[in-house]
Amino acid sequence: MQNAQIAFVGAGNMASSIIGGLLDSGHELAALRAADPYPPSRENLASTTGIAVFDTNSDAVAGAEVVILAVKPQVMAEVLDDLSSTLAQPRPVILSIAAGITEASMQARLGGSTPVVRCMPNTPALLRLGASALHASEYVVDQQRQLCQYILSAVGEVKWVDQEQQLDAVTALSGSGPAYFFLMLEAMIDAGVELGLDPDTASLLARQTALGAARMSLESDVDLVELRRRVTSPGGTTEAAINQFESDKLRDVVQRAMAAAADRAAEMAADMG
Ligand SMILES: NC(=O)c1ccc[n+]([C@@H]2O[C@H](COP(=O)([O-])OP(=O)(O)OC[C@H]3O[C@@H](n4cnc5c(N)ncnc54)[C@H](OP(=O)(O)O)[C@@H]3O)[C@@H](O)[C@H]2O)c1
Repeated sequence: MQNAQIAFVGAGNMASSIIGGLLDSGHELAALRAADPYPPSRENLASTTGIAVFDTNSDAVAGAEVVILAVKPQVMAEVLDDLSSTLAQPRPVILSIAAGITEASMQARLGGSTPVVRCMPNTPALLRLGASALHASEYVVDQQRQLCQYILSAVGEVKWVDQEQQLDAVTALSGSGPAYFFLMLEAMIDAGVELGLDPDTASLLARQTALGAARMSLESDVDLVELRRRVTSPGGTTEAAINQFESDKLRDVVQRAMAAAADRAAEMAADMG
């Protein structure tokens, strides 16, 4: 797959990090290209990665096996209308990372049998620590699925969902999820300061604790409940805190927050559809 012809429409943050990840994993430089109307974005991408850049989308996508749509949702309709004739034959797989743009709306502009994959990545992809979920429409063949998986794996972990609608749940979990952890960190730092620590000390201890806990949860061979049990001695300090979280219904708060995010994702998709 390392010589698959991949074109990016939009040369912003997400495109740059995926391109960086692909090059680091050994993808051929000559097989990657990108288009962006904004000269500084093109120049920045060309100078940091060395890939070919174009000011016209159709020049970048001609002959590509995969076209990655990495533009903001607001410009997607214009981009698709402009590319529809170039993408008509041969049909590459279209991999969209734009939030809320449905497969049906892309196919309505590109032709009903266009192979479309929708992806919801998240911001840690910028550090190659992303968590992405993908959904393939019915015209996507196995080799195209593998290619999409290969591309997103260059910036982190990848999961497939069976129904497009599940991407709303993905948005509520991993798409918006980094902000939930930032909020939890803010709250823990504030509480540490309230308990008498200086802000720098509270901040470092909270962030490093989050990193350590996340790595333990991924690298340990025991489940989360057991990991928690092992640091919760009966009658001890952790148990006092966990009991307070449970009696304050932390799980209900998280469930309501994620349901609100999923509802909003569905509303936004309906508005843009
Ligand atoms: N960043 C994330 O973590 C994240 C997470 C999940 C999903 N996404 C989705 O990923 C997509 C890209 O996000 P991003 O953070 O990479 O955005 P970004 O940095 O703004 O990149 C988008 C790029 O597309 C360019 N562009 C605008 N109109 C264009 C056109 N007609 N043809 C080609 N390129 C055009 C923009 O140029 P200008 O700057 O001149 O407008 C910009 O350079 C968005 O749809 C976003 O919803 C991002």
